[in-house]
Amino acid sequence: MKEAFTSDNIAGASDSVIAAIMAANQGDTMPYGNDDYTAQVTRMFTELFECDVDVFLVSTGTAANVLSLSAMTPPWGSVLCHSESHILNDECSAPEFYTGGARLVGIGGKDAKIDPIKLKTLAHQKKGDVHSCQPSSVSVSQVTEVGSVYTLQELKTITAIAKEAGLPVHMDGARFANALVALGCTPAEMTWKAGVDILSFGATKNGAMTAEAIVVFKKPLAKDLGHLRKRGGHLHSKMRLLASQMIAYLTDELWRINAEHANGMMALLQDGLKGIPGVKINTPAQANMLFCTMPTPMIEYLLAEGYAFYTGRWAEGMIRLVTSFRTPKEGVEAFVESARYFAEQGA
Ligand SMILES: Cc1ncc(COP(=O)(O)O)c(C=O)c1O
Repeated sequence: MKEAFTSDNIAGASDSVIAAIMAANQGDTMPYGNDDYTAQVTRMFTELFECDVDVFLVSTGTAANVLSLSAMTPPWGSVLCHSESHILNDECSAPEFYTGGARLVGIGGKDAKIDPIKLKTLAHQKKGDVHSCQPSSVSVSQVTEVGSVYTLQELKTITAIAKEAGLPVHMDGARFANALVALGCTPAEMTWKAGVDILSFGATKNGAMTAEAIVVFKKPLAKDLGHLRKRGGHLHSKMRLLASQMIAYLTDELWRINAEHANGMMALLQDGLKGIPGVKINTPAQANMLFCTMPTPMIEYLLAEGYAFYTGRWAEGMIRLVTSFRTPKEGVEAFVESARYFAEQGA
């Protein structure tokens, strides 16, 4: 079996996360988040983000997203997001379900980043018209779905437009750590200091087993989240087993170490592929995900060799490669070598 670049979800969890679950598994604690582990998670996030935050642990990124959206969007509202966003394309209409019917409005924009000019128009469209869905919130993905990363200035531009229209801003941070490492800024700078009101803080793709956090910076948005989470089936009775994962993930900067590794492996992969005849980088990878295009025979060769990655879902020849905190350097080098070998043989 050769290296797989299918997703960062194919990696298991970090050893220290599993060890933390084992340790937290001893003895009894109060259920439903009324335990010391869960309280510690809130303290750790408060320190990490340098501000007072409300934290709601859930077990999937989809739950974090759709519960966040339901806290900021009424059933008659609309969520303005990129047309390639995960919430629009890959959550099986859970956002509509959890919000009680809100509409997701996809906006175009290069590299899967929302076009500010289009956002500005849509943020005000038909406001107050009783016949129309009301623009209610904005959601950005950081890392985006094509592997690009919003700069702090780009984020601020989006959030300023949203604020001016009175719309709260959600960030889908399923790959939050990868984006942060790419920008080299602080968690505060990439969130509330840039105008983000509520964050889906992803951990599962980058070392946790099943733990994600909704981190609320704008206090009023937290008001109903306890009930929304319970109603949505994500108030875990044995919350300490989620909390212990998050504690391990935040301890000794495991999140940063893991993301640095994943991003580093992607940089190596991208650099190697760049020079190979026939390979085109579609969107330069800034974090741990890359979309590129290859001749179909090269794709077939790599798959036959035993490498794994997604293809056939997009334009012909387009493939997606994702590295994780566990991707080995040798696996990356072997993949590049195989692609190069094929290109040279073909030539
Ligand atoms: C950008 C983005 N957001 C959210 C999610 C949802 O995560 P989960 O599969 O844990 O529900 C994913 C998962 O692939 C993702 O890529």
